[in-house]
Amino acid sequence: MTRFIVTGTDTDVGKTVFAAGLSQALKASYWKPAQAGLEGETDSQAVARLAPEATVLPEAYRLETPCSPHEAARVDGVQIDDAALALPQVDGPLVVEGAGGVLVPYREDLLAADLFARWSLPAIVVARTTLGTISHTLLSIEALTTRGLPVAGVAFIGEEEPVAEGAITRIAEVPHLGRLPRLAPLDADTLAAAFATHIRVDLLS
Ligand SMILES: Nc1ncnc2c1ncn2[C@@H]1O[C@H](COP(=O)(O)OP(=O)(O)O)[C@@H](O)[C@H]1O
Ligand SMILES: [Mg+2]
Repeated sequence: MTRFIVTGTDTDVGKTVFAAGLSQALKASYWKPAQAGLEGETDSQAVARLAPEATVLPEAYRLETPCSPHEAARVDGVQIDDAALALPQVDGPLVVEGAGGVLVPYREDLLAADLFARWSLPAIVVARTTLGTISHTLLSIEALTTRGLPVAGVAFIGEEEPVAEGAITRIAEVPHLGRLPRLAPLDADTLAAAFATHIRVDLLS
């Protein structure tokens, strides 16, 4: 079964773009458990635009406030329930995109990585290539492996930085899934082409 969690070192690192590329490549269902912030394009809307062959599932939680899900839920007066965060049952591949980074709280007693551990799916860590990424990425991987989660690999976004990319994947002993360059324009066609050229989807099967 091809099912993955797409997480990352931080918010805005490129998880949604990577998840869209992966969902298109696998013709997968895409699920964002909790969307915090509904102004502008949501992650699910971005994936629908960038991955026309993906099936975008409805989010379990759509929260108005653009901040950590635990705080967005508090402000919105919403209770985050475990049952609503159960993995959707789908036939075929599934790509799940977490909010923010690996230790983002969905509730104060439920961090993203704890939720991932319940689902027990391999995690892909999306990381930038700029200075500071080695520590952030190794910390993220450590938080996942400490909870017993398999890490399917690291996918980098940005300019090529072979020293940092190599250090991360060798030290953590995880696959280097490739690096997506910054795309301009970024649309379904340029993303599909860049994904086919730069991302080792073969390492995920
Ligand atoms: N490879 C890329 N090429 C061009 N723009 C990108 C790329 N990856 C991310 N972006 C842009 O950077 C911003 C943050 O990316 P996003 O995927 O939404 O991050 P995250 O899901 O980690 O918060 C978005 O505006 C997105 O369009
Ligand atoms: Mg996102």
